Amino acid sequence: MIKRVTIGFLGCGNVGSGVWRLLENFAGDIAHRAGLTFYVKKVLVRSLDKKRDIEFPPDVLTIEPEDVLEDPEIEMVVEFLGGEEPAYTHMLHALKNGKTVITANKVAFALHWHELQKAAKKSGAGLYYEAAVCAAIPIIHSLEESLQANRISKVLGIINGTTNYILSRMSRENADYETALKDAQRLGLAEPDPSSDVEGLDAAYKLSILASIAFHGRVPFEDVFVEGITKVTAEDIRCGEELGYTLKLLAIAKRDGLNVETRVHPTFIASDHPLANVNGSFNAVYLFGHACKEMMLLGRGAGDLPTASAIVGDLERAATTTKHRYPTFANELNPKIALKNIKDWKCPFYIRMLASDKPGVLRTIASAFADAGVSIAAVQQKGVQKDGRVTLVIITHTASEKAIRKALDEIPFDTAALVSMIRVEQENPVNESDELETL
Ligand code: HSE
Repeated sequence: MIKRVTIGFLGCGNVGSGVWRLLENFAGDIAHRAGLTFYVKKVLVRSLDKKRDIEFPPDVLTIEPEDVLEDPEIEMVVEFLGGEEPAYTHMLHALKNGKTVITANKVAFALHWHELQKAAKKSGAGLYYEAAVCAAIPIIHSLEESLQANRISKVLGIINGTTNYILSRMSRENADYETALKDAQRLGLAEPDPSSDVEGLDAAYKLSILASIAFHGRVPFEDVFVEGITKVTAEDIRCGEELGYTLKLLAIAKRDGLNVETRVHPTFIASDHPLANVNGSFNAVYLFGHACKEMMLLGRGAGDLPTASAIVGDLERAATTTKHRYPTFANELNPKIALKNIKDWKCPFYIRMLASDKPGVLRTIASAFADAGVSIAAVQQKGVQKDGRVTLVIITHTASEKAIRKALDEIPFDTAALVSMIRVEQENPVNESDELETL
């Protein structure tokens, strides 16, 4: 007996077309394996006249949201509009009408998750969002179900493919930022306006969702510290590589008790770390749970079929469950027992300076760091003198940014001038005795 599920699409761009094609091409398998057939009754589009790759049956396309949101036959709504509005309003409308919502929209979801979940619980509808974070990688489902028996203390992610492609090109081919970005745009990896990706916002929306699920408490998007890759230079990438580091736009979330830090910024990570070898437009999430220990999921975080893979998975899950589940933490922006957002987190730093090449300069720099309580881990003087100056690269031990700034402020300009400062993520080495204990 095949169960027919009537669905509607909100939007039908690249990803929507991917879902349409996957549902069409995979219909036999879905029917055979899951006993389901998905019937797409209505597809909301901006214009009926636009030329499309897919030939839709007559009357499927509509420009009226109500044709999807108010049709009692439509049980599930898949949202591909992207951005905050009108996506949020339409999803809320659908949920209030008891329709299950499946979304790939990290922006509207990260900003309005609590309101959407409240409406879903009230009407008993489902709310599914695997595709909103890292597309094909099943990280949401893994955190919400398979890894429930863990206290997750750390999530490190390469969760934006555009920036990972750009940084990989800069690292492998010594390309400059502008060239790598133009190539990403030419290949369709970066938008004509790439700001959300390159400024780190796309990753920050995703991190706010991931951290909330991993740490069982809402981490609002506004609490995520964000710095993009627009100021990264090939020279810094090269200097870091010589010291054994690879530069990535890392999304970092850590929890210690109720204290949480969440940040997205260019980060040097040891070149033998699994994340350092995730290249091109691939995404990966590396995490540590007290029971599962280290784990990394790697795959495609964007694109029509990889995103459709997550959406069709959610459609099947929603259609076969007997009762929709929602995260159990207090999903409010200001819950009574809240995770505390830590702003003065610490990490090692990479610092590149142009220093005068004369006696006493290193002593002045070392004293400034010592006086600010910052311990230096490595110093490298590079290249030949130019205009009396040489490049000096310093790696510090773990320190607060405030202490680093204090040290730098104390160094006179004619001694050394700061060129760049990049945070370093130092993984604790795997504790072999822990490993033995669990064997
Ligand atoms: N623009 C994103 C990326 C994909 O480059 O990874 C959608 O979130």
